[in-house]
Amino acid sequence: MQSLLKQLKNSVSEALVAAFGAELADSDPLVVTASNPKFGDYQSNVALSLPKKLKIAPRNIAERIVENLKVDNFCETPTIAGPGFINFTIKPTYLATQLSKIQADDRLGIEPVRSPQRIIVDYPSPNIAKEMHVGHLRPAIIGDCLARILEFIGHDVLRISHVGDWGTPFGMLIAYLREAYSEALTSKEKLDLGELSTFYRQAKKRFDEDENFREAARLSVVQLQAGDEETILAWKIVCDLSSRSYQKIYDLMGIYPEITPRGESFYNPFLPEVITELEELGLLVESDGAKCVFLEGFTNREGEPLPLIVQKSDGGYNYATTDLAAIRYRVKVDKVQQVIYPVGSEQKSHFAQIFQVGKRAGWITENHQFIHAYFGLVLGEDGAKLKTRSGEAVRLKDLLDEAINLARKDLETRLKEEGREETAEFVDRVSQVVGISAVKYADLSQNRTSDYKFSYQKMLALQGNTAPYLLYAYVRVQGISRKGNIDFTKLSTDTKILLEEETEIILAKHILQLGEVLQEVEKDLLPNRLCQYLFELSQKFNQFYDRCPILQADEPLRTSRLILADLTARTLELGLSLLGISVIERM
Ligand code: ARG
Repeated sequence: MQSLLKQLKNSVSEALVAAFGAELADSDPLVVTASNPKFGDYQSNVALSLPKKLKIAPRNIAERIVENLKVDNFCETPTIAGPGFINFTIKPTYLATQLSKIQADDRLGIEPVRSPQRIIVDYPSPNIAKEMHVGHLRPAIIGDCLARILEFIGHDVLRISHVGDWGTPFGMLIAYLREAYSEALTSKEKLDLGELSTFYRQAKKRFDEDENFREAARLSVVQLQAGDEETILAWKIVCDLSSRSYQKIYDLMGIYPEITPRGESFYNPFLPEVITELEELGLLVESDGAKCVFLEGFTNREGEPLPLIVQKSDGGYNYATTDLAAIRYRVKVDKVQQVIYPVGSEQKSHFAQIFQVGKRAGWITENHQFIHAYFGLVLGEDGAKLKTRSGEAVRLKDLLDEAINLARKDLETRLKEEGREETAEFVDRVSQVVGISAVKYADLSQNRTSDYKFSYQKMLALQGNTAPYLLYAYVRVQGISRKGNIDFTKLSTDTKILLEEETEIILAKHILQLGEVLQEVEKDLLPNRLCQYLFELSQKFNQFYDRCPILQADEPLRTSRLILADLTARTLELGLSLLGISVIERM
């Protein structure tokens, strides 16, 4: 189904051609949702952009467009406001037919894109020689959400985790494995290495206290890079332990389970080729023994061009070399059109630099889009980077557990107040869903490019732009079905939907806008737009619920309102699922 916005754009484009000739066929009709709902649902600002070209006053342009507009099948007569804005109000009868159309459709009328692209979303891509901490939160949540949305829209999405699984930090872990669990290297069976966090901490303790251990760690790095068989085995065991423990947390968070791990080590065999190719292209310059590409537009304090080192003077490669190999591989082997990197904003220059080199090497062409979808920091309530009281980065597991615990406390208080008895399973399930959703939603509802303050209290509140508020709107609808003994899936799709009350019309319009919102998110990769849409949907539903009796209404209004409630719930469910949040029937 074509979105209302798209229909209006087409109509305005046609009217432009009818009024002023074919040379305007390519002008953007500049249709947007109305800046003020008083004036209508949508507006076109195109008349204000054309006076120079047409040498006619904007208001006259607007009048001529309106004369040529053919929208009376779905709009009230368009009006002109101010210097030449054209305002459109959608007819309630038309909204009703559109709602009937989406009622029987699982995708709620949102058609998959006509020309799907192959898109890699590079996430969550943690460095696994560290314990999982709050810094791992955003790439997992944002990457998961973007991948879900792009996939739903119809793209062929590959989720690839560019795991930091190579290099110096592994020396310490390998040395500790050799020291404390040497049997792991000889035994055929998998040895239980205990909790990853304990393993890390003990390795770190040994590293800090003993010079001989540090030497063993350094040696392990050299052996690892030389491909020594036993060291590689030790490295694999450590990586495996780490990945399994990371996976547990992703499962707890409800991150999409099928992500292809393709760590930095995967690209090791291709690194020499990258260097040769850059060399052949004449892009490499030797500087102090290191091989570099001098960057355009990046200068040091003295104004001299900055080098991007791709091979160190000792012959070693680095993060940038690996990422260049990944770019080349993704274009040539994966044959992607788009790669999205949801990675912190502190890596802005890294990505700008590797994208530049990728372009100059001819790997990234005009048919490719490489996008650093960067994000800000998670801050504590004091506005500084989120830390524990002792000053360490907060462990991700602790952070999630705390959210679930607090959700449980809130729930128990509410149950007591309402005098409700619920089973232990119910309490467990609701606390888990609410706790995790609250954390995810608090993250996604902020514009990802800024930092945000992490506050359990705010994110768990039942009021405001929070996950619990949205989940509650969904629960309300399910409550109607329980109370009235109604199976929403059995509501007749032939029922005429009646939109008479203002709150009904407002809600109906909003439901029909999901497709437009998803298109925006596809363009600018800002999930907060979807959050805002779902928040407003919940608000509009609540207003409708307060003003319009549903179960008490007479037929045919009753069924019509039930359909409206069900469509709200299904829109919420779909939208939340795209944020990686599952719904609950009661809470
Ligand atoms: N492992 C990196 C980090 O934790 C992020 C990797 C992002 N992806 C990439 N292709 N560079 O900082």
